Amino acid sequence: MQAYRAALLHCLADPREVGIERSYQYFEDGLLLVENGRIARIGAAAELLPGLPAGIGVVEYHDALIVPGFVDTHIHYPQLDVIASYGSQLLEWLETYTFPAEARFADPAHARAQARLFLAELLRNGTTTALVFATVHPQSVDAFFEEAQRLGLRMIAGKVLMDRNAPDELRDSAASGYVESCALIERWHGKGRLHYAVTPRFAPTSTPGQLDLAGRLLREYPGLYLHTHLSENRAEIDWVKELFPERRHYLDVYDHHRLLGERSVFAHGVHLCDDECRRLGESGSAVAFCPTSNLFLGSGLFDLARLEGHGVRVGLGTDVGGGTSFSQLQSLNEAYKVLQLQGQKLDPFKALYLATLGGARALYLDERIGNLQPGKDADFVVLDCKATPLLARRLEQARSLAERLFALMILGDDRAVRETFAAGRPVHRRDA
Ligand code: GUN
Ligand code: ZN
Repeated sequence: MQAYRAALLHCLADPREVGIERSYQYFEDGLLLVENGRIARIGAAAELLPGLPAGIGVVEYHDALIVPGFVDTHIHYPQLDVIASYGSQLLEWLETYTFPAEARFADPAHARAQARLFLAELLRNGTTTALVFATVHPQSVDAFFEEAQRLGLRMIAGKVLMDRNAPDELRDSAASGYVESCALIERWHGKGRLHYAVTPRFAPTSTPGQLDLAGRLLREYPGLYLHTHLSENRAEIDWVKELFPERRHYLDVYDHHRLLGERSVFAHGVHLCDDECRRLGESGSAVAFCPTSNLFLGSGLFDLARLEGHGVRVGLGTDVGGGTSFSQLQSLNEAYKVLQLQGQKLDPFKALYLATLGGARALYLDERIGNLQPGKDADFVVLDCKATPLLARRLEQARSLAERLFALMILGDDRAVRETFAAGRPVHRRDA
């Protein structure tokens, strides 16, 4: 057993359902007990310290706030080196920057090196679980899962399915994509903390035959994820209409091939009609809200209130390399502005919920991760309230927890992450 003493904050429920005050638990001087990779207890230090068995080490943090590990519901590991590429919207950006970068993952040594850098970057930013695109190459998935397993992380990933409208070296076929996915599922799905996601890139790069086989995989192997993109960009949506004239709307392409349901995660959903929102909600599907990407690629403004009004589960995604930061604090900074532009408010406790328990719920992993309830995986982050002079000054002046939390998410980034723990093990130390 190990004990950590600091201010502790975690979400218990969606503020939308229970109100802000009942949605979180906060201990100004708290104690977190970890045993065998799980949270054993959480409470006020004054209450828990006296009953602590002799010989238990207590790590004390000052000017720190412990929160659950962040959950990133949409990111591309092969796009680490695509981040911050100038000047285009989605379709041109894919052709100019993304496809050439992904082609290099045919080389397993490159894939392994990039997987290592990518996971280190996630952990530097306090993200302990992510839903991750690999590339079309099965070896890119092996490299990713091997590295995630080495670190003991809960991760979800899959091989990209792409059998048309992509460069030759990045195309599979409906049949080869299916067979390669089966092999990867059998090798990785449910192994330790790893989960597999069937990953058709988006409707334009898969034939109806390939989408059919993606649906078949979901029915053949229980507990799989479905991970793709949906209604991100106007030109993309027009293209989908041309390619699938018989479908009612973009989501109907996926629906027709039986790809909606629990553990189906659609990235973006910026331009949806009411019928699409309704189907997402009733099917138990989730949408990844990716604010830094939606602004960077000029895609549009995500309407959180509308999606939630339809009962859709929403998680937060960075969408690196379309997104501009690995930091979910920075995603929240941009999410706040995206919602401001639509007359919506992002309360800081709701924001924390989106980055942690809400993401876990979107991924149907809230039994295991998302907050610091006893029994859950001990994935947590130690935030540094004095990470920068400006942050220290602003937090000192803040009069309430809500104000401090808000300033942390507007001003914070990887500098604010002092340590990251996964399954109780230290996996990142900023000052090491
Ligand atoms: N749509 C299809 N592929 C991609 C991708 O790699 N990134 C983003 N943001 N959107 C996509
Ligand atoms: Zn994406």
